[in-house]
Amino acid sequence: MNLDYRYTANWLKEHIQQVPPIAMILGTGLNNIAEKSEIKTKIPYAEIPGFVPTTAPEHKGNLIVGELNGYPIIYLQGRFHYYEGYSMPMVVFPTRVLASLGVKTLIVTNASGSLRENLSPASLVLITDHINFMGTNPLIGQNDENLGERFPSMNNPYDLQYIDLCEKIALQKDIPIHKGVYIAVSGPSLETRAECAAFASWGADLVGMSTVPEVIVARHSQIRVLGLSIVTNYSNLFHNQAHSQEEIRQNAEKASTNLLPILIEFIQNIHFS
Ligand code: HPA
Repeated sequence: MNLDYRYTANWLKEHIQQVPPIAMILGTGLNNIAEKSEIKTKIPYAEIPGFVPTTAPEHKGNLIVGELNGYPIIYLQGRFHYYEGYSMPMVVFPTRVLASLGVKTLIVTNASGSLRENLSPASLVLITDHINFMGTNPLIGQNDENLGERFPSMNNPYDLQYIDLCEKIALQKDIPIHKGVYIAVSGPSLETRAECAAFASWGADLVGMSTVPEVIVARHSQIRVLGLSIVTNYSNLFHNQAHSQEEIRQNAEKASTNLLPILIEFIQNIHFS
């Protein structure tokens, strides 16, 4: 498998007229956000050197360059998860490619389970910090000094100015938004009640199976990160029945209706800053 991110970045430069400074990784239930843009270029992952198929539900598997309200963005419509059986280098390969392309801001989105009663399904949450409980780290292995340092700081991986800006926008628009800490597990089995209780006691508010590898790699390359999570279900702490994929899809859809106006204004505000 070809995991040469510079080769892929150069290949993409030949297919995209101008590389936007902002990229967005669209997680479960949020793939449709790309389609709210004026699509300029759409490349299926199958055509991109080094990319692999996405097997997660509702992850479409396209790289799209579009204009959201006139501002260009690269969308990754679907991501690679560790639980799909991909290696960590593969999981973060698209983020490495974005770094090689010179992207300055990464917006990462995901669906999560709630560890707090006040974060009810369909809530929108600004990720303020994370706990890496995946049992591995995407930077293990030889360090590429051209991308970043051996021991990158994880002090404020989620940009404080971006968090402030989104809170202000949400307030202005009267859209409820929360802040929370995200814990990443490998999955694919969901968390037991005892695990959820442990995570909550460690300070986690949300649990999911993605995002943290991409954020670590983005920060390694000094890319500024905004993390947004949509709560699709309460974790096992609050109920006794399994949640369905349909429930997850519906809650994601509700939350994404609130997310879009915030994103539009956020992008407009940061574009030239
Ligand atoms: N646990 C882990 N990942 C998730 C969940 C969950 O409850 N909901 C959406 N992604």
